[in-house]
Amino acid sequence: MGGTGSLVIFLLCLMFLLGRSPSFASTEKEKTLAMIKPDGFSGNYTAEIKRVILKSGFNILNEKIVHLDEENVTVFYAEHSKRTFFPNLVKYMTSGPVVVMVLEKVGAISDWRALIGPTDAQKAKITHPDSIRALCGLNSERNCVHGSDSPHSATREISFFFGEMFSSGESIANHDEL
Ligand code: RTP
Ligand code: MG
Repeated sequence: MGGTGSLVIFLLCLMFLLGRSPSFASTEKEKTLAMIKPDGFSGNYTAEIKRVILKSGFNILNEKIVHLDEENVTVFYAEHSKRTFFPNLVKYMTSGPVVVMVLEKVGAISDWRALIGPTDAQKAKITHPDSIRALCGLNSERNCVHGSDSPHSATREISFFFGEMFSSGESIANHDEL
């Protein structure tokens, strides 16, 4: 076989490997939905949280401020709708505006979850003192931030806020205080 033939076979093998190998696939950028919940927004933590996000290597692809109603929360947190804490979760999440952001980086979903820390902010203050929930959360309900927990959730949640729905959400750029 001539040199050109070998080169073609080599390139085909390389393309096959690049397309299949998990170690190559994991270098692809991923998107996740981050939210600063009502207590984080009203407590003026938005600027600090965004600084941590950027310092940690995320790009903020899109962001806006929205005020959720009961129906929005019921759809967004549908997996929890039968839990005893759900009525309180609805009250909390509708108590004021939230900031939603699409974050992007390699490993964005797990890295953002690691950065926000455990659900219970009280525990976070002890076990993950550098986490965002340790910084601005109060307890297992008022924990200041949200992060998608899987690729499936990330796709659903990004489309929830940045698809058709909430297209009238207010641009964060209009808020000088942030
Ligand atoms: P998130 O979805 O907001 O990122 O929080 P998470 O994955 O860490 O926790 P998850 O189990 O999905 O719970 C969703 C939100 O419900 C509230 N919660 N309250 N009172 C309680 O026991 C309780 N447990 C959960 C929190 O606001 C939690 O983030
Ligand atoms: Mg969750």
